[in-house]
Amino acid sequence: MIRPCTVVISGKGGTGKTTIAALLIDALVAAGERPVLAVDADPNTNLHEALGIAVTETIGSVREEAFTRSIPPGMDRTGYVRYRFQRALAEAEGYDLLAMGRPEGQGCYCFPNALLAECIETLERDYRFVVVDSEAGMEHIARGTVRNPDILLITSDPGARGMRTASRIRDLAESLGLSRDRISLVINRDRGDAAPGGDLPLVARIPEDPAIGDADLAGTPIIGIPATSPARVAVKGLAEWLVRECARQKG
Ligand SMILES: Nc1ncnc2c1ncn2[C@@H]1O[C@H](COP(=O)(O)OP(=O)(O)OP(=O)(O)O)[C@@H](O)[C@H]1O
Ligand SMILES: [Mg+2]
Repeated sequence: MIRPCTVVISGKGGTGKTTIAALLIDALVAAGERPVLAVDADPNTNLHEALGIAVTETIGSVREEAFTRSIPPGMDRTGYVRYRFQRALAEAEGYDLLAMGRPEGQGCYCFPNALLAECIETLERDYRFVVVDSEAGMEHIARGTVRNPDILLITSDPGARGMRTASRIRDLAESLGLSRDRISLVINRDRGDAAPGGDLPLVARIPEDPAIGDADLAGTPIIGIPATSPARVAVKGLAEWLVRECARQKG
């Protein structure tokens, strides 16, 4: 069994995490880096819409029901959780998607985390990449929702404020033990006038792309934008960089 390369996408609200996650999953699958496990770690589940697939269950709902509902006869709680987990895994061409849903109680993902880790280990498929779309801001990093990604991509708009937020996210991740050389910056909605990115290594500039706005307006999946769309071409380059970087890290 190969160990997948885990890529977490983090950043200020509305900086394009979900859009980039969807295009990245699509680019990795197209490049033959499959299967990919897509994880929607935003409680406001919406990665599936960007990908154009349906999600019927979340890890949050599995957890809630596994501990409140009576377990069907002949099943123990662990077996029931496993069974529901399998159903929560949405299967698509070249990738699977898991939505985390609502965190437990006081915003703690601890239980689904342990559960998820265990369930992912027992999944039979050899994922090459795990791509995690996070909720906005730094909460999930502070909570340790995403423990030790191979690569943390921080998205920012081209503005100076966005860059400062990106640096703060980096500092927090680093203070929690993530090594600095695993953290990179992605500038989104670039118009060629981005503020200097400070000391975060810039790995991609994703241009402002009208096709994304059109898909948004029409409510169609982001991954349906034309292959020649500038944002899509840029994310393809980002996927190529990730493949090289993950190979390098694994030596
Ligand atoms: N490169 C781009 N060109 C044009 N529009 C974009 C681009 N990237 C993102 N957008 C638009 O910006 C908005 C925010 O994008 P998205 O939902 O991906 O951000 P997010 O970081 O996931 O937001 P949230 O923090 O709410 O999860 C969306 O309307 C999206 O269509
Ligand atoms: Mg999002």
